[in-house]
This record gives sequence, structure tokens and C-alpha cells, in this order.
Amino acid sequence: MLRNLLYNEDCIEGARRHIKDGTVDLIITDPPYGINADTFEKHYNRKASNVIDGYVEIPKEKYEEFSDNWIREAERILRPGGSIYIVSGYTNLHHVMGALSNTKLKMVNHIIWKYNFGVHTTRKYVSSHYHILYLIKPGGKVTFNTFCRYGENERDDSGGSLNYRDREDVWIINKEYKPNQKKNRNELPTSLLIKMIQYSSNEGDLVCDLFLGGFSTARVAIGLRRKVTGFEINQKIFRNGMATFEKVIPGHLFDKIRIPDKSNFVRRGKPWTQEEKQKVNIRYANLRSTGKNRKESIDSLSSEFGRGRFSISKILKSEKDSLPVRIHNKREFT
Ligand SMILES: C[S@@+](CC[C@H](N)C(=O)[O-])C[C@H]1O[C@@H](n2cnc3c(N)ncnc32)[C@H](O)[C@@H]1O
Repeated sequence: MLRNLLYNEDCIEGARRHIKDGTVDLIITDPPYGINADTFEKHYNRKASNVIDGYVEIPKEKYEEFSDNWIREAERILRPGGSIYIVSGYTNLHHVMGALSNTKLKMVNHIIWKYNFGVHTTRKYVSSHYHILYLIKPGGKVTFNTFCRYGENERDDSGGSLNYRDREDVWIINKEYKPNQKKNRNELPTSLLIKMIQYSSNEGDLVCDLFLGGFSTARVAIGLRRKVTGFEINQKIFRNGMATFEKVIPGHLFDKIRIPDKSNFVRRGKPWTQEEKQKVNIRYANLRSTGKNRKESIDSLSSEFGRGRFSISKILKSEKDSLPVRIHNKREFT
């Protein structure tokens, strides 16, 4: 059963009251940035009437102590082996890093999230990234689902590994444009949250967001059949978030996420014989004549011949001029 515990409380006090030591599998959180929140609308070119008010900021002079306090709680509630992702701007990043260095949490990656609609400037560079610190709590089994989104052998058109690309530490993910819809300041995009949740948790795991804001983490976690817990200090933001959260159908995001191709190419890496190359080309012509497009044909050839798609497409290219392959629908090549 999916059990969710969401509280309209300060996360530091609330976590002490409600969450036992070592019980959370994954924390994804986006604390207030300690910059003047009133300037948000100007920066993000947002219509103020569509931004839910009440966002609680932390004064600059208190940011260090505040970071220390919530990060200690995060460390306490995380299970050994559990993961934590902290989204941060650069202004107070040093305080977040300082607080982390007072814990036993181990930094695994410092991810840069590059987004669209950067902060508008005229006499300096445009700010268009956030930092995402990914750490684990030592002492237990770490969940990192390496092939949850792209199989080991999946390649793009130029032969690059899709899995490698997805796991690089610079993420280019657009913010969601929701014209005329109510939104929390700085709401995180669904695809960003899906990525962290897929890699670092499994169905039924408990995901915690200490600063729920627009409840984006909570909604995505439920959409992927995880359990959630979390806190939002402001009542108006909390009520609004709860209203959106209650409409989420558990597991609904499974229809939207990509299924990785986990095929095991048995002839991968083996040298090509002339005979095999000819067979591939003849079979390719056959498939095309049945109405399959190039991509579909390559997919079929890949499983028939036990070879990766990139390898197949290279053979087709190199043999294209030398073999008398007849394709019925010539227009498909233009
Ligand atoms: C950057 S926003 C979170 C945005 C959220 N990730 C989303 O996608 O909508 C930070 C939120 O933390 C809340 N907040 C500030 N101090 C808090 C505290 N001590 N405990 C819980 N929530 C707090 C703010 O009101 C704000 O809604």
C-alpha cells in the first residue's frame, strides 16, 4: 500500500517529530536559496498573479546555521546506503557544501542542471544553471539503477552510447512552461525528478522532500509508485500542493517513461564476414520493401543478426554503393 506522510510544518522540527533514524531511501530537496525571493518574478519573467505567494525565504545571515540544521536531519533520517540530491543556486552553495562537510555523507557527483529561460541580464553572462549535489550515506547498499533508462547497447545515430550520455553530469532539462497556471516559485520539472527517482530508488521506496513547495517531488514519486514524506512550512503553499497531489494516480508516469532496450547482442564485437554483410543488405532491402522505414528495419536486423544498431547501420552505409540492393520505394531515400 502507498502510505504518504506530508506535513505542514518546519522540516527541521517536523523531521525530529515524525521521521525515525535511517528510514528514508531517497531525499530530493530544493531548499530556499537565501536570495531575495521578491526578485523571483523579475528574474523569471513570471506573472506575479500566477505565482503562489507565501514562499518562506531564509535571511542571508541565517543561511549557514539553517543549512547545518536541516542537513543534519537529512543525514539522520536517510538509511545507510540511501541517496540525497540537493538542488542549489550558486549564491549560498558554499554554506550547503560547508554543512555537508560536517556530516558523514559522501559526495558522489556534482551535477550541473542547465535550464532554459535563464536570468535575464545585459552586462554580464546569463545565469542558466543550478547545482545538484548527489551524495550517499555510507554503510549500506546504494541504489543506482544504471540501465533504468537506456540499455547498455543503445546508440544514437552517430554511434554514441545513449546510456553514457544520460549519465553525464551536465543535464540539459527545460523548465516547464505553464502559461496561466498557478505554480510554486522555482518548481522543478517533472523530467528532472523522474531521472533522479529512477536512478536512485525502486518501486515502494520512501522518497522525502524536506521543502515541498509545489509538491513536484511528491507528485512524481507517487507517479512512479514510490512512497513519499515531506514538509512545507507555509500553509497556503501546503494546501495548494496537497490539492494537486491528491489528484495524482499512483503509477501513472509508467506510461510516459522510456523503456530501455536491454537486448543482449550475441555477435557484438565479432568480426563481420563478407557473407554476413551481404545477408544484412539483402534482408534490409526485403524489410524496406514491406514498408518498414530505415529505423524499423535496422531494429529488426539488430535482433535477427545479434548486432548493435550502429554496427548494422555502418554496414548498410559501407555496402550501399557496392551491392546491387533493390529498394522498391525509391522516394524514401530522398
Ligand atoms: C525552492 S522551494 C521548493 C520548490 C519545490 N522543489 C517545487 O518544485 O515546487 C522551497 C520551499 O521551502 C519552503 N520552506 C522554507 N523554509 C522551510 C522550512 N523550514 N521547512 C519546510 N519548508 C520550508 C518555502 O516556503 C518554499 O515553498
